Amino acid sequence: MIPAIRGTHDILPGQVERWQLVERTAHELCERYGYVEIRTPIIEREELFSKGTGETTDIVQKEMYSFTDKGGERVTLRPEATPSMVRAYVEHGLEHALPGAKLFSIGPMFRYERPQKGRYRQFHQLDVEVFGLHDPAVDAEVIDLAWSLVASLGIAQAELVMNSVGCAACRPKFQEALLAALGDDLPKLCGDCQRRAKTNPLRIYDCKVPADQPIIDRLPHSVDYLCEACATHFSAVRAHLDGWSIPWRLSHRLVRGLDYYTRTTFEILGQTLGAQNALLGGGRYDGLVKALGGPDRTGIGFAAGLERLVLALPEGAGALVAPKVFVAAIGDEARAEALRLLRELRRAGLSAHMELEARSIKAQMKRADRLSARVALIVGADELARGDVTLRDMRAGDQRSVPREGAVAAAREALAAG
Ligand code: HAM
Repeated sequence: MIPAIRGTHDILPGQVERWQLVERTAHELCERYGYVEIRTPIIEREELFSKGTGETTDIVQKEMYSFTDKGGERVTLRPEATPSMVRAYVEHGLEHALPGAKLFSIGPMFRYERPQKGRYRQFHQLDVEVFGLHDPAVDAEVIDLAWSLVASLGIAQAELVMNSVGCAACRPKFQEALLAALGDDLPKLCGDCQRRAKTNPLRIYDCKVPADQPIIDRLPHSVDYLCEACATHFSAVRAHLDGWSIPWRLSHRLVRGLDYYTRTTFEILGQTLGAQNALLGGGRYDGLVKALGGPDRTGIGFAAGLERLVLALPEGAGALVAPKVFVAAIGDEARAEALRLLRELRRAGLSAHMELEARSIKAQMKRADRLSARVALIVGADELARGDVTLRDMRAGDQRSVPREGAVAAAREALAAG
């Protein structure tokens, strides 16, 4: 046996219904909020992520599945969707085709991380992005969509956390204050933090090393260093959420692990997930579209981890399965008629099943039970002679004859009644 690659998973029947529920809910909600679907390749040029996700991020430094293809090109299995969405927006001039573009996409991502519960090497995201709109109402709408997704899935005890990391105008002052506050403590921090202090000091807030925490807890907060424009923006976003009674908590440490964020950052945390507790995360990014060769347009979005949403779903949640009709045949002659009936049921839009290899009637009815069929239509020599079919209600256990030509309608009626 050749096993699956570590950190990748088959989604088996029995589990896939929970995925379908999450995906269907995501589609329905995005469409309700006016977002249109876009699908981009899972493989892109490596530089899209080194420039887009950012050279100083863990993703680019440690986690990318990159290789040289047979044509000598450096390519990467996408670790996130945002740079691809930006590339497609720029490459296809979507700012003209879809002004105020509101886009969503669902698909697999790849990060070479250490697998644990909720963290995989191939995982799936719902990614949502809006381009070209600055108004705080857009931040609020995106957060509302994320909040509604979690609520619609019945995930209880989710917590919305927010922060503002400022913009190109006010960030440098905050970074300066951060480094000044660290002062003599910097050499006491872990190696990663010392590297971060040189490349991207904000990332120090991401540190999980226990010994570093007392020092990090004393560091200044980005919201205290916002310029007027950023402060006004953030308070407008918060006012919208308060107006809609969406509860949130300010988290000074929410700087997010990617390089491109400006102003609003947010995550929704799940309570049942353990260490990997972010159901989704996102924020605004003012410079990314331009940095990737496009016009100077802002963007904002989030990505939700589908594995984590599926894990956090309430027990027993799953896609509704269409009620099934089972067709059973007794004898060879009746089998041909039963197969015709099976096709008729399917063409009429019903979910219809039959044992395609001849079996005893007992084995066939056992199979109908295992499939949880609601109705069985039985065809035997007697039925053929009479021109009818026996309709059995599998729950009640009673049965009656229905005319052969009315069998499909009778099955439909019986399903509707049940
Ligand atoms: P991110 O925080 O890197 O942001 O990922 C978003 C979500 O994807 C996480 O909250 C988590 O649910 C899920 N996720 C990330 N890594 C893994 C993993 N290894 N295994 C399972 N789930 C994972 C982004 O990707 C940004 N592109 C979000 C964004 C969109 N920002 C603006 N627009």
